[in-house]
Amino acid sequence: MKDQYDIAVVHGDGIGPEICIASLTLLDSVLPGGVLRFTEHPAGAEHFLKTGESLPQATYDACAKADAVLHGAAGIPGVVGPDGTEVGVDFTLKLRFGLDLYANIRPIRLFDGVTGPLCCKGADKIDYVILRENSEGLYASRGGGTLLREEVATDTLVQTRKGIRRIVHKAFQLARLSNGAPADGVRRVTCCDKANVLRSYAFFRSVFDDVAKEYPDIECDYAIVDAMTMHMVLRPNHYNIIVTENMFGDILSDLGAATVGGLGLAPSAEVGDNNGLFQPSHGSAPDIAGQGVANPYGMVLSSAAMLDWLALRYEDQRLLTAATQIKAACAMAMTEGCFTPDLGGDLSTTDVVGALIDKVKAMG
Ligand code: NAD
Ligand code: IPM
Ligand code: MN
Repeated sequence: MKDQYDIAVVHGDGIGPEICIASLTLLDSVLPGGVLRFTEHPAGAEHFLKTGESLPQATYDACAKADAVLHGAAGIPGVVGPDGTEVGVDFTLKLRFGLDLYANIRPIRLFDGVTGPLCCKGADKIDYVILRENSEGLYASRGGGTLLREEVATDTLVQTRKGIRRIVHKAFQLARLSNGAPADGVRRVTCCDKANVLRSYAFFRSVFDDVAKEYPDIECDYAIVDAMTMHMVLRPNHYNIIVTENMFGDILSDLGAATVGGLGLAPSAEVGDNNGLFQPSHGSAPDIAGQGVANPYGMVLSSAAMLDWLALRYEDQRLLTAATQIKAACAMAMTEGCFTPDLGGDLSTTDVVGALIDKVKAMG
């Protein structure tokens, strides 16, 4: 346990600052003053437009040194570097690679009070985790692909035994700690790949099988990624932990979020052995930025994941209690229909966070 935790905060662009500020207000109300020390640092597309830099070295260094990093979201479509890709996403990607944040944990859970878009059997109970490999796969190529004579472009998908082993171990460990799939209570890890077509994914699956031998108490399951999109829609309650390559995890986690009410509700935790970055799965949502209506639950639940991660790492009961209170307040508020317009409500971002603060205070 530490007296104080240094949290590096980067607001980002679009709705990033709106949801980030809302979350900080809640964190301030849930923990005694001084337990978390927030320091704010610039990065993102707006910052690039002002200064020519999307991620200042000082911001990176502060994040590397901090006990944890909180990020809203960044990126402005069209604000790109010489290779045509967005500069706003530098912050997230450079932290992932530089700090080796190899495990991206994206819970997909249907909360009571939320009407999801699915109406199939099993859609009433959705509670699984997409465990996205976050340090290699197709994203390993960021900044290293080629463009030849404006005619041919390449990006290489990279998967290593070390990278696959550690993410698959994490998947089985998460399964052990879970309650199993809602359909049958079975603790199950689904390996989602494209092993039928590409060597790199066949390798992913073979390493998965090797690691799985160490967890005979957990059921193994396989899905090829194209069919997986159907299964996530038609039998979501079958899933417990889904482990997958970086790019597949990116795409599937947005689909999963849609099945439980939308991106605004989707939290994410990106952790390595020594560092953690906590930000929602969604982006800067330029279409609703500046209106005060961004859904804060994804960000708030990501900040609760940060407290849980720090609590475990430093054996700090205060943080564990605070995380539990935030999650309970979110569940209660959703049951009562406290929603922003994306979920059919008419509350603002600050209204929702105000309701969460009241609930936490009422818990004493
Ligand atoms: P997006 O996630 O920003 O938005 C997709 C849709 O979901 C939009 O209609 C948006 O209004 C809605 N949405 C997202 N979050 C919401 C919330 N909290 N409340 C209510 N509605 C919400 O994805 P996009 O439009 O593809 O990307 C926009 C920008 O964000 C791009 O510049 C992209 O590169 C960037 N991006 C950044 C991050 C990040 O920083 N972590 C993640 C994803 C995308
Ligand atoms: C996410 C985002 C990121 C990704 C961007 C911001 C680099 O979409 O975290 O899902 O593509 O991984
Ligand atoms: Mn994404």
